[in-house]
Amino acid sequence: MSAKTINVVCVAGARPNFMKIAPLMHEFKKIGSVDAILVHTGQHYDKNMSDRFFQDLDIPAPDVNLEVGSGSQSCQTAQIMKKFEPVLEREKPDVVIVVGDVNSTIACALVAAKSGVKVAHVEAGLRSFDRTMPEEVNRVLTDAISDYLFTTEPSAKKNLLREGIDEDKIYFVGNVMIDTLLKFRARAEKSSILDTLGLSPKSYALLTLHRPSNVDDEKDLSNIVAALSDIRKRIKIVFPMHPRTRERFAAFGLFQDANTADNLLITEPLGYLDFMKLMNGSQLVMTDSGGIQEETTILQIPCVTLRNNTERPITVEAGTNTVVGTDREKITSAVLRLIRDGCPGKRAPELWDGKAAERIVRIIVGMAKPEGKDEDTSAVVSPHKLDR
Ligand code: UD1
Repeated sequence: MSAKTINVVCVAGARPNFMKIAPLMHEFKKIGSVDAILVHTGQHYDKNMSDRFFQDLDIPAPDVNLEVGSGSQSCQTAQIMKKFEPVLEREKPDVVIVVGDVNSTIACALVAAKSGVKVAHVEAGLRSFDRTMPEEVNRVLTDAISDYLFTTEPSAKKNLLREGIDEDKIYFVGNVMIDTLLKFRARAEKSSILDTLGLSPKSYALLTLHRPSNVDDEKDLSNIVAALSDIRKRIKIVFPMHPRTRERFAAFGLFQDANTADNLLITEPLGYLDFMKLMNGSQLVMTDSGGIQEETTILQIPCVTLRNNTERPITVEAGTNTVVGTDREKITSAVLRLIRDGCPGKRAPELWDGKAAERIVRIIVGMAKPEGKDEDTSAVVSPHKLDR
């Protein structure tokens, strides 16, 4: 008698989801007993924010695209829920896998939980303890209704236990985003983006900025821009600009100065391979992204986080990440110090070894109890044998 086929629906919606879902889709493909489909919610839809990642990371075209597009926090979340429910009714999966902390994550997790379908959350338990961030609300709620909570670092398990999550649901598996980085690192090195932008290695700082808390508030954004004008006197800044940030720059009249500023190069959002090459070639990175804090930890590039907190404390412990907030002087002095001293390199966080997706898939496969004695159980590893 053969093992039951497990039906899995994987969800991706916004840019940082694509590099997390890619290794899972690739692993599922290798396993005969899993039928996995990919649902793209369409939260991000520009070529630069979506299609390019599917090409760069060899992700098969989504089986379903909900095409929800942009909207307010609540409208976007509600739209995704409305359009995802019929997909679940049709597909009747055993498990829905959601990744990260975007609106697509909570929307699809909630529909699955209400439909009696098991939810697996990849990157569970991260907490900034700042409920004004939409991502924090998404994290807490998704974890509360998940059946499988896959974590990337030890702090996550502590956070989940504090919130009353059953320990048996928590699996420490490593970091799928790092699986992608390690897999595509050599390919990214072949990108010609430095030549295209006229840059030489280690001659520039790389900047990304898109959090509502940083770019929607005129005072905070102007403060960051003022710090950048200090830093530009010492090092060139390369700034691939997120669409939200572009809108805010236009609304606050910040483009007049930015377009003529010395030592500031603003580009469109870049694909995965070009961005990875640019990051690896930079002297340091300034960012408010979560994933970039993790990627710089593996690449051993100093990272200055332009937020007052991080949900990824392991990146600070690893020595590469400095959380500085949005104060002009603090940003400038941290950047100048890093230009002078660099950052101490320590060893990579535990289990950030390129095998996280493999561990997750084994646990998901372990869901399906073989019907009777089965000869094909070699791929099934008891979750209890895995490191928690
Ligand atoms: C979302 C995530 C954030 C993640 C980020 C990565 C939530 C709550 N936030 O923020 O956690 O770090 O993605 O980029 O889910 N837009 C375009 N083209 C696109 C997508 C967006 O022009 O393809 C513009 C739209 O004007 C939109 C704005 O960007 O209103 C913001 O997009 P949205 O998906 O609402 O959130 P992000 O700021 O991208």
